[in-house]
Amino acid sequence: MIGEHKIVRPKVLITRKIFDEAIAIVRQHFEVEDNPNDVPLSPEELIKRLQGKAGAIILLTDRIDEGLLSQCRHLKIVSNVAVGYNNIDVEACTRHGVMVTNTPGVLDDTTADLTWALLLATARRVVEADQYLRSFKWTGWKLMEFLGYDVHHKVLGICGLGRIGQRVARRARGFDMQVLYTDVVRASPLTEKELGARFVDKKTLLAESDFVTLHVSLGPQTTHYISTAELALMKPTAILINASRGPVVDEKALVQALRDGKIAGAGLDVYEREPEVEPALLKMKNVVLVPHIASASRETRLRMATMAAENLVAGLTGKRPPNLVNEEVLSL
Ligand code: DGY
Repeated sequence: MIGEHKIVRPKVLITRKIFDEAIAIVRQHFEVEDNPNDVPLSPEELIKRLQGKAGAIILLTDRIDEGLLSQCRHLKIVSNVAVGYNNIDVEACTRHGVMVTNTPGVLDDTTADLTWALLLATARRVVEADQYLRSFKWTGWKLMEFLGYDVHHKVLGICGLGRIGQRVARRARGFDMQVLYTDVVRASPLTEKELGARFVDKKTLLAESDFVTLHVSLGPQTTHYISTAELALMKPTAILINASRGPVVDEKALVQALRDGKIAGAGLDVYEREPEVEPALLKMKNVVLVPHIASASRETRLRMATMAAENLVAGLTGKRPPNLVNEEVLSL
């Protein structure tokens, strides 16, 4: 009809199931294609669905790389619902003029809580004891049953004293622990004092800690940050906790160290080839395994999803997204 103008709204893709509240934020501005059944998209399907899309809200299960970017010419922003973005080739995004955003800050306490849940569950054999009781094996109280390790007054070694590592350190105070940390950059004297954390090199930390917990981000320097040589330095009574990224630990080396009694146990939230888990780990009673749930509280996951929605809206309405990872894309 003459004189009638249909407003064409930019199209965006939400690759997996997220909260309705977050989708509503995006729908106010854009035409949304979502994935309510939460079926993971294959790389080919992802490229197909991204055709004609100006932006995407993605999860860490979606890989954004050169191959995809060269076939998705309309894409201007990928908004990751995660603080870690090792699923995205950020340099390739910048080359293609695509903004990358993440969700820092909101999940620090929730991730620190889960780190502690893993540490306590592994040290005190909570999962093993629960399974024992549920399978009707408990015949009565015994002095010598389910002896674990004390956590209080022990030494906690934190690898990576960033936002999450600091939250983990704070919680150690309640357990009267001695806290050691190692990092590429030393924290300020004030932070060290507040946290009661002592800076040491990696070798010292591994040798002196009763619990070693990993909070480094994944990159070429931190892939297999813990492997055979590192595990050999640890105490035979030590427990390793990983709620960072799977490839930070060499899973095969970990299995061997556990088999050989080089360390006493492990609590893992993340795996080298998710959702695959090294089969030997599944059989070990001194290992507690959870499926990458460190940030999975209702409140935090909702906040992460709305943050990702807000980043996407900002990026596609001419504003600077609050959590832009590749600043340099703005000066292209
Ligand atoms: C992240 O945000 O990087 C976590 O691994 C998922 O919450």
